[in-house]
Amino acid sequence: MATTHTVTLGADTFTVQSGQVLLDGAIASGVDIPHDCRAGRCGSCMTELKAGITLGGETRQRGTIYACQARVFSDLKIEVEPMPQVDSVRATVSVLVDLTPDVVELTITPKKSFTYLPGQYCRFTFNGFPTRCFSPTAALDGSAASGSFHLQIKRVRQGRVSTNLGEKIKTGHGLTIEGPFGHGFLRPGLDNRLVLVAGGTGFAPIWSVADAALRENPRREVVIVVGVRKLSSFYMGAALDIASRLPNVQIIATAEERQCEFHSVSFGIPADQVPELLATDIVYAAGSPVMVDFVGERAQLVGATFYSDPFESAAAGAEDWLTRAITWMRTG
Ligand code: FES
Repeated sequence: MATTHTVTLGADTFTVQSGQVLLDGAIASGVDIPHDCRAGRCGSCMTELKAGITLGGETRQRGTIYACQARVFSDLKIEVEPMPQVDSVRATVSVLVDLTPDVVELTITPKKSFTYLPGQYCRFTFNGFPTRCFSPTAALDGSAASGSFHLQIKRVRQGRVSTNLGEKIKTGHGLTIEGPFGHGFLRPGLDNRLVLVAGGTGFAPIWSVADAALRENPRREVVIVVGVRKLSSFYMGAALDIASRLPNVQIIATAEERQCEFHSVSFGIPADQVPELLATDIVYAAGSPVMVDFVGERAQLVGATFYSDPFESAAAGAEDWLTRAITWMRTG
């Protein structure tokens, strides 16, 4: 049995020891495979396996592996999707708005241009606070990006960052952004049905994907399934209202709280409301690991393409946003 194998990645070839982790072999040979956690968690090293045998590092997407987990047992041919270079930029909190009692929206303005793909995530280090991962997203009111982007952050009890939003972290606070990371991003130029499933502030990457996809093709068939635990946390009504006006967009909203006031929001959890999937669907999920795993298994069963990255407006416009959100929830 050969003790070394040849790996071909585009125009590069490199040699790995039999049984060696693919990413380790690439790094040792000076070949760049994007990566971050090196623990099978972030999805950054997802690699397409075109030919050959590996063990471990399987993903929910057919024909792909996590290079940081896959061990090589034959010559391989692999491909890596082009992604923006990871960068580190300084930025400022330019707007901070409470969307609900437990969800805050921050508008972040980088000091130089910063590129990410819709659905990716970054590391944010607010000056004086520990680093956290969030997904940059589009404005809930549908306004076009202007060099800034938004974060939707849930205040978690005793959270060292989230409990300080609006307290020690206010408008004008400085921060560093590092990224982007992850493979759960929108692939442009396709017209397959998109099924987008979000729980809580998992809506941030899902809205980023939906907004970009519908700007590219307003007639694309898109199903957005979104759920919250408490109705008081339902902050995404304005965005759903905008999307629902397009001809081929279906919105399914759930809350784990029985109520009869908002006709558009049914009792339940998003996983229960995912439509019957087709092999041609492209499915994204973001939220609790249990929900994401469930949706991923459903997608895998029918052979649909599945993406998920495992990680955890101006004040003057807030009233308009709230009004539109409540109107949408009442009327559907
Ligand atoms: S680097 Fe492989 S999953 Fe994070």
